[in-house]
Amino acid sequence: MHAAVLPSGCSILSRRLLTLQSCLKPFQLCNLSTLDDHQKKIYDRIIRIDHAGEFGADRIYAGQMFVLGKTDVGPLIQHMWDQEKHHLQTFKDMISKHRSRPTVLLPLWNIAGFALGAGTALISKEAAMACTVAVEDTITKHYNMQIRKLLELNGDHDELLSTIKKFRDEEMEHHDIGLEQNAEAAPAYDILKKTIQMGCSAAIFLSERI
Ligand SMILES: [Fe+2]
Ligand SMILES: [Fe+2]
Repeated sequence: MHAAVLPSGCSILSRRLLTLQSCLKPFQLCNLSTLDDHQKKIYDRIIRIDHAGEFGADRIYAGQMFVLGKTDVGPLIQHMWDQEKHHLQTFKDMISKHRSRPTVLLPLWNIAGFALGAGTALISKEAAMACTVAVEDTITKHYNMQIRKLLELNGDHDELLSTIKKFRDEEMEHHDIGLEQNAEAAPAYDILKKTIQMGCSAAIFLSERI
């Protein structure tokens, strides 16, 4: 409502109310009021696991950069890491906005993620890229599953859906970068990939619940 259409005595008060309203806008909890208990539960799970996953990805790339930062693949790893930092910040913001509870396992994922990134990078550049392929393949499938779940859920979930779709596309890009950088030439590629993916699946299972 514009202040000019109000009675003259109300214009100062209405302007102040409009200013206050626009100041508060960034802090409004969009969607929260329209979600029922079932939907809130699903959002809570999705945000908790995605926050944990992006936290782990951030630590993996930190470990890779620690070892390979000054090599020819340094800029590529930095590019992927920058995108992971953005993913993580987005889910951090969602945790506050939706008042979700982060997993209590973050300290464990901090150490395990860095160790996985640095450990595979110490084997070889190809092993680091095999780690990227394994992790990003798992995350892409996980995001696809969440997209299907949200599409089946009643109500408007466009905001969360568009975020997950965008991140899913970027994880696929990371996966393809790993393959282009000879991930499949890593020693015992199949075993390494399967082992890392089993670890990722266990981390997802635990982070959703604890
Ligand atoms: Fe990510
Ligand atoms: Fe990624």
